[in-house]
Amino acid sequence: MVMAPSAWHDIAEDQTTIAYPDDVLSSGRERSRGLIADALKSRIDAVDHDECIPGEEDAFFVADLGEVYRQHLRWARHLPNIHPHYAVKCNPAPQLVRFLASLGTGFDCASKSEIDLVLSLGVSPDRIVYAQPVKTNSYLTYAKSRGVKQMTFDNTDELRKVAAKCPGAELLLRITTDDSAALCQLSMKFGAALKDCPKLLKLAKTLGLNVVGVAFHVGSGASDPLAFKKAVSDSKTVFNWGHDYGHEMKILDVGGGFSDDSFDDMAGVLRAELDEHFPSSSGVRIIAEPGRYYAATAFTLACHVIARRVVESGDVEFEGPEGSVRSVDDKAGEIVSPAASNMHNSGDHGAFDLAEEREGSGSESYMLYLNDGVYGNFSSIMFDHQQPIPRVLKADGRFFYQILTGRRITYSIWGPTCDGIDCISSRVELSEKVEVGDWMYFEDMGAYTMCSATRFNGFPDGHDVVWVGADALPGFGL
Ligand SMILES: Cc1ncc(COP(=O)(O)O)c(C=O)c1O
Repeated sequence: MVMAPSAWHDIAEDQTTIAYPDDVLSSGRERSRGLIADALKSRIDAVDHDECIPGEEDAFFVADLGEVYRQHLRWARHLPNIHPHYAVKCNPAPQLVRFLASLGTGFDCASKSEIDLVLSLGVSPDRIVYAQPVKTNSYLTYAKSRGVKQMTFDNTDELRKVAAKCPGAELLLRITTDDSAALCQLSMKFGAALKDCPKLLKLAKTLGLNVVGVAFHVGSGASDPLAFKKAVSDSKTVFNWGHDYGHEMKILDVGGGFSDDSFDDMAGVLRAELDEHFPSSSGVRIIAEPGRYYAATAFTLACHVIARRVVESGDVEFEGPEGSVRSVDDKAGEIVSPAASNMHNSGDHGAFDLAEEREGSGSESYMLYLNDGVYGNFSSIMFDHQQPIPRVLKADGRFFYQILTGRRITYSIWGPTCDGIDCISSRVELSEKVEVGDWMYFEDMGAYTMCSATRFNGFPDGHDVVWVGADALPGFGL
């Protein structure tokens, strides 16, 4: 058993001794799959497609807090000197935020309600960065009343607002970055150009405001680690200017932009750059605002197949939303791990038996309609440039979590609304013959999904989350 640390520094400082304990990390993901499988299976087995009342068959998430914890330990190992402030906007599920609070992270809040959520969990206001360079006037007053002092700015009007409403603020000057390689670019909207920073630092001084550091964001879903290189060296330049104007520069906020698959590379470049420009001897406190990194991989979404249409022409490729086309080489066909999954299938069939038994012509094509779509949790397709990968969860009365069988059938996958744009995948080849009443699942659905869901057409924007993994972490009851 791994004892839960009570603060960030418990992990950072103890990491050499507690880092990557076997039962949480090396076998952690495998064990998690078992927990997720059990949660998915017991929930969908309880739904009688023919008899259930509206809502019982709704899409739902299974969220694995063990995965969040693993990401946290990984952060501590790769970036031990950077204190993460979870970006609440990414996924504000209170259980997730509370869990991260227990781990000792700080929080990046962008609005009054995010501040309220974090404070309601007993987090002290000095663990919050109000990381929104353009803030609502009344929110500024509110932040002041709740003791939230750290906040970002990037323009002169904002400085005047802060001077009027929250003069005791501890300000971080947000600068632009080269985020051209990021999925979601932010610098076209936020950040001061380097050349404008001296003017802003001077005005802040004139207004009697305290600039305490610099913030940047290399773009969400960033893919070029070198973006950190320039951002860190620009930050150093601004630190020097800040000192020149008499500000006590002591915090560097390196923002978000970290993803599960590129984290190790990103962290390596960032660490080297920080060592050069902001070594520990500088006394500068370094913080970050990761969102996607913590939330994405922990959430699996299960959706019910509410309707199906046979495509007579055999051609199911449609003009879906940007990036929604799936090819035969898509990752949907990658999972070949029958051993663990056999435990979860009923009857005597192993996965390979199923493959043989169901092998067929492979020439059918269908349109599948799920009870969640682009107006719901797949809002990430539109807003976050994601391409969620459809996988079969239950078909023909059998459970296929983490199983791939041999046969390939072509589908396009749609959401439940009446809008043609509501397309999850315009072409995907799957192994099973999926019918009405079956279930699909999608992994890595924790970032920028439920937080931007709508109620268009009267479909729900809130979905149940089944939490697993907390039992491995004593003291984290939900
Ligand atoms: C100011 C700020 N901080 C942090 C984040 C989180 O970014 P990510 O999810 O890429 O880590 C965002 C995302 O838009 C942001 O705007």
